[in-house]
Amino acid sequence: MRSTELVVEGECYISGRFERACIGIDGGKIVAIARNLEGERRLDFGSRKVLPAAIDSHVHFREPGMTHKEDFGTGSLAALHGGVSCVLDMPNTVPPTSTARALEEKAEAAASRSLVDFGLFAAVRPGVDIASMAGRAVGFKLYMAGTTGDLLVPSLASVEEELAEVARSGKVLAVHAEDESLRRKEPAESLDDHMRNRTGDCEASAVRKVAKAAEACRLHICHVSSRDSLPLVLGQPRATAEVTPHHILLDRDRPLGTYGKVNPPLRTRADRQALFLAFKEGRFDTMASDHAPHTIDEKKEDFDFAPSGMPGVETMFPVMLQHVRDRHLALATVVKALCERPGEIFGIRKGRIDTGYDADLVVVDFMEGREVRADNLYSKCGWTAYEGMPAVFPKAVIVRGELMMNDGEQEGERHGRDVVASDG
Ligand code: DOR
Ligand code: ZN
Repeated sequence: MRSTELVVEGECYISGRFERACIGIDGGKIVAIARNLEGERRLDFGSRKVLPAAIDSHVHFREPGMTHKEDFGTGSLAALHGGVSCVLDMPNTVPPTSTARALEEKAEAAASRSLVDFGLFAAVRPGVDIASMAGRAVGFKLYMAGTTGDLLVPSLASVEEELAEVARSGKVLAVHAEDESLRRKEPAESLDDHMRNRTGDCEASAVRKVAKAAEACRLHICHVSSRDSLPLVLGQPRATAEVTPHHILLDRDRPLGTYGKVNPPLRTRADRQALFLAFKEGRFDTMASDHAPHTIDEKKEDFDFAPSGMPGVETMFPVMLQHVRDRHLALATVVKALCERPGEIFGIRKGRIDTGYDADLVVVDFMEGREVRADNLYSKCGWTAYEGMPAVFPKAVIVRGELMMNDGEQEGERHGRDVVASDG
């Protein structure tokens, strides 16, 4: 029998069902799956479930420039404990990731500090050199409304050439779809006011406009938040769509105050339920956390001045697994949206337990739930909107064949790698 460097054994999620199996791993990749395999090292997880680790395709790790909120060290530690083995980081840092040099510098910082693999988005702005970034970026990000950072484009016409270059690059264009021209700027004191300033129409209008202006691009509509824009987004012929945990689980009636302030906003219960249902039916391509940490001091500002965004990279997979445990969601739906589709869309060989894929695995025990507590989380920001929610946190996490977390303890060497620059 063939022997591999490592064999992981357990109840493995393969082709949509659990089977007792051995996963043979060489050079960080899955090379064999069989009932019995020999290995130089062996990790036997007994009756525990082995799933693909998640890819969180939308995070803000704040490095460089805002590392008082988060950095690649703390953000990736949070990711690891949440069963996320790969994060795709957004470009609204300081400086923004809108030059080849900024991309290079962020990649170096991430490679030296990250415990999990990463990909970097580059920003679309008037005058940026798309071609020089296309080789290094996992995708491009377009901000159609003002939010954290300074990346709002004045109009789609102002980036016409840049969008044509993005289309030529073949990379995904991820869009923050809110129409700045429809955004009301009334004073806001509550989540309800915030929602009224950034309506579902504002989202729908942006989707319509970008679908036309960037027709030739591989569009990915981020964080869909409104039931009004839902049919439009899901009806786009070639675009893919993302939903966040907060938009399907939280709404403006929660007493979260500034901690629930995000862009696009939390909306009504009816919006939340419509999004949950669409997610449950498998109509979204991906779920991503939009992990957007801000400090407690920043969130203590008056509502209007408090920044938008909430952390989520560590709670997304565990809270979704709890919904599987409670039979509110099918495991296949969760694995597809958090693991398989992000891998397919962004061209990353992760997210499946199959030969040729990276050996990025999580081990879970559905019988062992634990409530989310900010005190037990690893993000630098120190708070969560999911305080007290039941969740199924992973018992162990393996990144490219290396056991990085076991029984809540960090293990292994820091070896986060850029999924675009690495040779596979
Ligand atoms: O709520 C948000 N926070 N929405 C965004 O678009 C940006 C993000 C952030 O970076 O804080
Ligand atoms: Zn975001």
